[in-house]
Amino acid sequence: MNYKRLTPHLVQLTTVDSTNNYAAKLLKATKVANGTVVMTKRQTEGRGQTGNVWETEADKNLILSLILYPEISVNHIFNLTIVASLAVQKTLAVYLNNVKIKWPNDILVNEKKIAGILIENQLRGDLVLSSIVGIGINVNQENFVSTKNACSLKSLLNQDIDLNEFFNLLYTNLDFYVNLLMEKNFKTLLQRYYENLYGINQELIYEDNTGQFNGTIKGISDSGKLMLMRDNILVHYDLKEIRFVF
Ligand code: BTN
Repeated sequence: MNYKRLTPHLVQLTTVDSTNNYAAKLLKATKVANGTVVMTKRQTEGRGQTGNVWETEADKNLILSLILYPEISVNHIFNLTIVASLAVQKTLAVYLNNVKIKWPNDILVNEKKIAGILIENQLRGDLVLSSIVGIGINVNQENFVSTKNACSLKSLLNQDIDLNEFFNLLYTNLDFYVNLLMEKNFKTLLQRYYENLYGINQELIYEDNTGQFNGTIKGISDSGKLMLMRDNILVHYDLKEIRFVF
């Protein structure tokens, strides 16, 4: 094991289409350090999960992509989602109560979304060569026009948060959880993920292509699928196959 913690190399941009796109170009062009962060003040074509758009007001929020060389096999790829979710959750929990991870990697406070994560991996065979961990956190934005179920630190605390301070804390937490990943401590990661997972062991309403139903999250499979107990049967769901009904 020769992992020596992340190198906090920061590429600070003013405007970019998407920090994930920029990080992908950087990775192709040169061998950047493990832990490099591409951060911007303004993002014009932010991308979200499942082809969605990520809208974020300029100068107010954290918009970044972390570049990692995870050295794990694709069988363990969901651990990257766990690492990023836990780091964001832990950072927000310094400021707020009731910060939860909604499977797979939305971060909620009181059931409203405060942060989103988009991870894009480059594979060789069954090895994860590099990963771009895109993170968007609503920090000082107050108005959410197109997303009614969103919130920010400012909307909840009524005060501005120092973006640099918040980023430094986030980076420390990313480093901590990446460390667990590099040590292949998947058991601890999954345990912490469960401790912070929205709806675990709780009967809630979900919706799939057959309509709404009651179900209880029992855990996450090795491949990252949501395992829901539904009418006494354990069903595995992929991201596009299920929706939480709040
Ligand atoms: C989601 O919840 O759908 C994921 C949102 C991820 C947004 C971040 S912002 C920084 C990075 N660059 C992007 O284009 N997307 C991610």
